[in-house]
Amino acid sequence: MNKPLQNVTPRTIGIFDSGIGGISILRAIRNLLPNDDLIYVADSLYLPYGTKTPSWIKQRSIAICKFLERENSNAIVVACNTATGAAISSLRESFNLPIIGIEPALKPAAESTKTGAVGILATAGTLASEKYDQLKTKFARDLVIFNQPCHGLVELIETGNWNGAELKTLASQFLEPMMQASVDKIVLGCTHYPFIRDTIQEIAGNGVELIDPSIPVASELKRRLEIENIIDNKLSPGEMRFYVTGERDRFKVIVDKFLDVDAKVNSIEI
Ligand code: DGL
Repeated sequence: MNKPLQNVTPRTIGIFDSGIGGISILRAIRNLLPNDDLIYVADSLYLPYGTKTPSWIKQRSIAICKFLERENSNAIVVACNTATGAAISSLRESFNLPIIGIEPALKPAAESTKTGAVGILATAGTLASEKYDQLKTKFARDLVIFNQPCHGLVELIETGNWNGAELKTLASQFLEPMMQASVDKIVLGCTHYPFIRDTIQEIAGNGVELIDPSIPVASELKRRLEIENIIDNKLSPGEMRFYVTGERDRFKVIVDKFLDVDAKVNSIEI
């Protein structure tokens, strides 16, 4: 007897960041939704986003989301704190798709700190955003918040040399003042920073908890897909496709190493 034909509905998730940072989010999504097709855009030609104006980031984010929409994304994850801060409202107005963003995980840090002092590592853009101001007012009124813009760190992380002396020196400069302020939680408020998690932990010491919101972002995506009834009944592993506006080969080396895959990476102009 022939098997009944199954109606397979593949689901595609579009994800973007200024560079490799959002790959830390993509990995969490892949673990949670292994059968979904994932399309990732790294806008590395224009990196870093952290020093750009909000209106520039809005325009860029809209252009990238148009591409992801044309590629049949069922939902888009803005895997970048800086772009979320500057552009998420405009994106939600412009696209008729679930758009999931990421913001510094101030809430879990505020709820669990024992010293009452929390460190935030983020880009200058994220820390200056109105969205971040709202977050502080909501969750961190009675706390000492040590905001640290990390100029130059994203560029060093993009080189893939995560144990280099230059990177360690820069990370120490950013971490030492907040360690003196007795923070016991440090929020990784930029999706690039999980790549140097070990270095940050080594400098901060084991008594400090690092908070990385990539798993909660993946859970939020899953929740939104369920609410919107965007189903996926594909049983085989999803495909992953990567597009990069800047240098392709270095990006591929990093993605292959981090995800342990032979990534399909295409150059693209957006
Ligand atoms: N990875 C990004 C973030 O989460 C942006 C880094 C940058 O390009 O400045 O903020």
